[in-house]
Amino acid sequence: MKQPVRVVVTGAAGQIGYQLLFRIAAGNMLGPDQPVILHLLEIPPAMNAVQGVVMELEDCAFPLLHGVVATDDANVAFKDANYALLVGAMPRGPGMERSDLLQANAKIFSVQGKAMNDHAAKDIKVLVVGNPANTNALIAQQNAPDIDPGQFTAMTRLDHNRALAQLSGKFNVQTNDLTRMTIWGNHSSTQYPDVSQVQVNGCDLTNVDQTWYVDEFIPTVQQRGAAIIKARGASSAASAASSAIDHMRNWALGTAAGDWVSMAIPSDGSYGVAPGIIFSYPVTCANGQYSIVQDLPVSEFSQSRIDATEAELREERSAVEHLF
Ligand code: NAD
Ligand code: LMR
Repeated sequence: MKQPVRVVVTGAAGQIGYQLLFRIAAGNMLGPDQPVILHLLEIPPAMNAVQGVVMELEDCAFPLLHGVVATDDANVAFKDANYALLVGAMPRGPGMERSDLLQANAKIFSVQGKAMNDHAAKDIKVLVVGNPANTNALIAQQNAPDIDPGQFTAMTRLDHNRALAQLSGKFNVQTNDLTRMTIWGNHSSTQYPDVSQVQVNGCDLTNVDQTWYVDEFIPTVQQRGAAIIKARGASSAASAASSAIDHMRNWALGTAAGDWVSMAIPSDGSYGVAPGIIFSYPVTCANGQYSIVQDLPVSEFSQSRIDATEAELREERSAVEHLF
């Protein structure tokens, strides 16, 4: 049996936290041979609720769960942490854009970035889920100068999975028949879900009706979060948790041969994107490292969509630079 690794989940008493913790403890994220010690970070008013979650975790008797630390102190939560899923943040309500949360949530990520810098394992893998996820990841990264900036990522896997689900319905195939989907850019309504490289059972997706693609598919994926808020009266939780598991599992354990996934990672300038912003790219993962899929053809249409989402991320960066 491997040595246990320490996994931080912030916002552990929230709705995503409740969907996430039990799957991590069951081995869905890091595999059936990797014990975990869960570190649950919450704010003081939620500590009672967290204790209830801890009791439920105990009651599942998960063989892989080798301990739980529940705390409202970020310095305790990030001590020796190997993985961090930064979920704790305010969600948006109806009529809001995710960027409306920027000032409300930014402070959380600067505090947690500093705590990670001082206490976490230097190779910690960080996934930011709390919105606006890309720019929150940048804030955490900029407050953790001793950690490799590439270890800070944000979640666009939910958008990727949403796109696969839409394609599955449209083309009457299973989601696992589909490969090479890409989400470019920001986890926001400017994101660009790009089907130009998608394959069905290894063959190129042909006969994509452009009117459907531009007027239905792209807006449906871009607006899916808002549609769920409207329907549920609360933002997506189980699907967000499931996508966070997918993101971390692929990063830690690798992607399937012939396929790639979408991860928001610090831009290295690939595809002409401003270096440094946390931009969603097509990536493959192996040996715990991700690599951007290079040299994909980019049409004029795709370029204009990539430019729009990149511009939004540059603006978000400008709005929070005082926190770096
Ligand atoms: P929620 O309100 O149910 O839970 C958030 C939890 O975070 C609460 O329990 C709160 O007490 C806690 N919290 C607040 N500040 C904290 C801090 N400083 N440290 C630790 N915990 C803190 O919200 P939720 O539905 O779980 O959503 C959480 C975030 O995830 C929101 O910002 C939401 O918009 C975002 N989200 C992102 C995606 C994505 O695809 N990236 C998908 C869904 C939701
Ligand atoms: C989502 O995409 O479901 C989340 O980011 C929540 C939201 O605000 O849309």
